[in-house]
Amino acid sequence: MSNSPATKPDYGVDAPAVMRNFFLIGGACLLLAIFSPHILHLGPVDLNARSFYWPAGFLIAEGFLFLLYVKVGKFRHRDFMLSLHPWRGDEQVLDVGCGRGLLLAGAAKRISALSGTGHATGIDVWSNIDMGGNSSAATQHNLDLEDISRYCTLLSQPAQTMSFPDATFDVVLSNLCIHNIYDQPTRRQALQQIVRVLKPGGIALLSDYKLTGEYASELANAGLIVEKKRGSLITTFPPLTVVMARKPM
Ligand SMILES: C[S@@+](CC[C@H](N)C(=O)[O-])C[C@H]1O[C@@H](n2cnc3c(N)ncnc32)[C@H](O)[C@@H]1O
Repeated sequence: MSNSPATKPDYGVDAPAVMRNFFLIGGACLLLAIFSPHILHLGPVDLNARSFYWPAGFLIAEGFLFLLYVKVGKFRHRDFMLSLHPWRGDEQVLDVGCGRGLLLAGAAKRISALSGTGHATGIDVWSNIDMGGNSSAATQHNLDLEDISRYCTLLSQPAQTMSFPDATFDVVLSNLCIHNIYDQPTRRQALQQIVRVLKPGGIALLSDYKLTGEYASELANAGLIVEKKRGSLITTFPPLTVVMARKPM
């Protein structure tokens, strides 16, 4: 096998252990349903082994939906999110939890295709649990391959303690990041940082599969005008909701 760097951008597998477990546990249920004796005696309980076809089908289907998101859906969802802002090309953009650069690269391509005076900054803590092969170097390699490095900066910093001055960004993006902050006070801190670094008139587009109600109320309480948008239910798995919040002038 070659160790040479990839020649095509690779935006990675989100939560790789989750996808692996869908296939592994689903596969184990399938084997049990096919090959074990019809009735399984578990202590005093008798189980019909064929009933394992149900969890097997469910888990393997979820694995394939996850794979569909990784291969196709995330690019569609990225385009859907970016279509919620009318791009000019001069925006200062922040991608919170940029991972391998999916949204960052999308925003930078829009900037480069227009006036080209804007800039996209990605911050991350490079967790390999949340994103396979996650590192600043891997993301930089993607930006180089996309030929947009001059429009981008990568920084290692957590969402909850951003170093940027107040009112730095016109657009703040984030996909599948904030739920990875497990305690609510720290999540609130991250959302407050997003509000702080957003310019008056700027827009935040925060996408996630859960906790979006919490994000929406935190942003509304901070005085932003908030709407929720739904991406495709088929190609985003789990289904993603975008919280779109504008900071008043
Ligand atoms: C599922 S990945 C999504 C990456 C990218 N947004 C995308 O859609 O492809 C979640 C990302 O959030 C990052 N992350 C998790 N907690 C974070 C935090 N507190 N601050 C910044 N990034 C964080 C992880 O390192 C990971 O790169």
